[in-house]
Amino acid sequence: MIPYNRRFFLEKLLRFGAGFTGLVMLNGCTAEYVSRQPICEEGPFLKLLPPDAGLTLYGGDEHSIRWVAGCVDFVRIEFSRNNGINWVAIAEKARAAAGQFSWEVPQISSDLTLFRLVEISSNKVLAISDAPMVLIPKLLLVLKNHPELGKVGGTLTLDRPAFGQFSIVRTGEATFKVLNLNCTHSGCPVDPENNGESWLCPCHGSQFSKLGCVLRGPARRPLSVYDHKFDANSGQLIVYNILSEPSSC
Ligand code: FES
Repeated sequence: MIPYNRRFFLEKLLRFGAGFTGLVMLNGCTAEYVSRQPICEEGPFLKLLPPDAGLTLYGGDEHSIRWVAGCVDFVRIEFSRNNGINWVAIAEKARAAAGQFSWEVPQISSDLTLFRLVEISSNKVLAISDAPMVLIPKLLLVLKNHPELGKVGGTLTLDRPAFGQFSIVRTGEATFKVLNLNCTHSGCPVDPENNGESWLCPCHGSQFSKLGCVLRGPARRPLSVYDHKFDANSGQLIVYNILSEPSSC
């Protein structure tokens, strides 16, 4: 028999758990077989862990969405990129007892991302993120796959949905500049000219150097640059969809 005080403790555990069946070791020498459903006196319960406020997630990374659950069998996991105006399902039917789901972060920009958990049997939202998170698209390039960047001065122009057109210039053995190719006058895409030595805006004629500096107006600001990180050991260049004005021009 389970002593009364231990029964009380077990009862408490089961009240917030998802049920339990099996042998319970009580003091190293006594065991009792227990098989029962949770009491659910306080109704179904879900809570997201940990608080997500201020978290920044990068496109393509795995993020573990974690929660605690009581008296819930299955959940639908949803995310919103616009602070709860629209919701998209990440997982249609996840086991609540699993307590976690690995999510591949999509390649989208958002600083108003939320998660929520919906109990499937009642279709009720039982948990929602405490505060918005930030999603930033990320691109990984393995340099050996891009011979255009094999030498200093080499350039590579790419087009990706989360970035649009951009150009990478190798400025040194381990340094790069990653240019956003939208003109800083009114946003038209610029075209290469002079065998890739400069950029010309077809809208009002602004001209930029290969490194994005203004050669001729009406644009006054250089082309914006993307944040990036280069790992010389692995030869990987990671580009983040975070734009800033270049410091050198
Ligand atoms: S948009 Fe490029 S010069 Fe006006």
